[in-house]
Amino acid sequence: MAEADNSRETKEFYLDVPWKAEPFFLKGSNALGWGMQDRLARIFSPRSGRTVMLAIDHGYFQGPTSGLERVDVNIVPLIPFADALMLTRGILRAVIPPTSVKPIVLRASGGPSILKELSNEQIAVEAEDAVRLNVSAMAVQVYIGSEFETQSVHNLTRLVDVGNRFGIPVLGVTAVGRNMTRDAKYLRLACRICAELGAHFVKTYFVEEGFDSVTASCPVPVVMAGGKKVAELDALKLAYAATQQGALGVDMGRNIFQSDAPQAMIQAVRQVVHEKATPEQAFDLYRTLKQERLTAVASAQKV
Ligand code: R5P
Repeated sequence: MAEADNSRETKEFYLDVPWKAEPFFLKGSNALGWGMQDRLARIFSPRSGRTVMLAIDHGYFQGPTSGLERVDVNIVPLIPFADALMLTRGILRAVIPPTSVKPIVLRASGGPSILKELSNEQIAVEAEDAVRLNVSAMAVQVYIGSEFETQSVHNLTRLVDVGNRFGIPVLGVTAVGRNMTRDAKYLRLACRICAELGAHFVKTYFVEEGFDSVTASCPVPVVMAGGKKVAELDALKLAYAATQQGALGVDMGRNIFQSDAPQAMIQAVRQVVHEKATPEQAFDLYRTLKQERLTAVASAQKV
């Protein structure tokens, strides 16, 4: 039997110290439950308030995308440099070592391939499996203005209900249909709809004109989608401009894994996002790391 604990005089109750009640660091997330906030704090760095997510979920509608043919060879070495991985449960289970201990943003919608109408998606994961996989968030595509707009919005709201039940945040991904104009007016509409209907954070594209109005009018964190591969310096400029205009990080895929030096590139992106380096400073880092790697490979080949 435990000894009775009656030594009141030897205890310190700090009677003059008020209990701390710190607001949660992420925009629009203060009223969320502990599990939800904990998961978001794994994705977004509490130090910088930002994230560098590595998106490798492309295969869910377009198969073995260039750079993702062998995720074990090309992507696993990048994992240490990412704050979170966005991917499907198939690749997660088959390829990603559980010892990576990286937050997972699980692709939770799907259905059509690139050969069909992409907006015709459905929820592709049961909540129980998301819990079993210990994911930190679930991602769903929202096709505002496309043929299956309502269905995709309904996918979002159903996932939000499930996420709320289990404490798993939902990422609303604004997919710009073929006939949509990718401008600030459209993205304001799409991001705001995602947030109004319960998305805990939103992923959207950068636009040159008025991106700050997209982030300002979205009440939850916005992360920038990478988009098609451009030159490394240009991709760093995009990440810089987006974070300067209110994005709380990036969810970048092709501009990292299709780079000629993916490890150097993801570290350069981190410099922009977390350390607020200019694109030129980050590009210098990219070039230095790329050269170091080339030198290391060359000397390993000589041995
Ligand atoms: C968006 O539709 C999917 O999540 C993509 O697979 C991902 O966002 C693409 O990333 P990126 O455009 O940076 O290659």
